[in-house]
Amino acid sequence: MSMMRLDKLLCDMGIASRSELRQIIKSGRVMVDGVPVTAPEKRIDSEKAHILLDGRELRYKKFRYYMMDKPEGVLSATEDPRQKTVLDLLEGDMRRMGLFPVGRLDKDTSGLLLLTNDGDFAHRVISPKSGIWKLYRAEVEGDLGQEDAEAFESGLVLGDGTQCLPAKLHILGPGTCLVRVTEGKYHQVKRMLASRGAPVLRLRRLAIGGLSVGGERGAGGFRELEEADISALFGQDALEHLV
Ligand code: URA
Repeated sequence: MSMMRLDKLLCDMGIASRSELRQIIKSGRVMVDGVPVTAPEKRIDSEKAHILLDGRELRYKKFRYYMMDKPEGVLSATEDPRQKTVLDLLEGDMRRMGLFPVGRLDKDTSGLLLLTNDGDFAHRVISPKSGIWKLYRAEVEGDLGQEDAEAFESGLVLGDGTQCLPAKLHILGPGTCLVRVTEGKYHQVKRMLASRGAPVLRLRRLAIGGLSVGGERGAGGFRELEEADISALFGQDALEHLV
């Protein structure tokens, strides 16, 4: 049983702000288990209660998972006094769900970014111990070759002595490559490619595990993950042959 205040529960669901909800509840628009509840502080069982707002059923989901196609020029942060963050791209209700980005993409990197309010999930996706791939497409200055791919495979040592885990480099053509890593150190992909004399001009994350960017209505678009997406995310091995 997980008892919560009714106004807090509805707020966590992203229905409205806490103060708006107090008014909504007091005005008798909310029914819990068939009975109108007008006390915002009323504690109810978030897992079992049957809640109606204006006759419409509401379902409580403790954890939320979204994917976004992050555009360039936006910070992977929850707030910033001066610059636009990925949270600013979300619709009103979603800003109240306690979402945060799962790891970071640099301001000038675009592509797949996950957002959640589930810390364990975020840790599982980010932790190198989970071995979840992050796949990037990079446009670089300079040439890369087989030797560079082998160096990636053996685990690069960056300029400052940082040891990287084995990674994959797949050259697509002059100045374009795919990089697959299982860790997310600061500016990792840029530093890896720079260490091979190929500074990055443009970087886009195409996939995390078996989940690819796409279907979020273009740059800045987002959508809630479905169960199949989560399975794809952790079921990356099916895609081993691609990179
Ligand atoms: N590696 C980078 O260098 N930048 C990113 O945004 C992500 C991975």
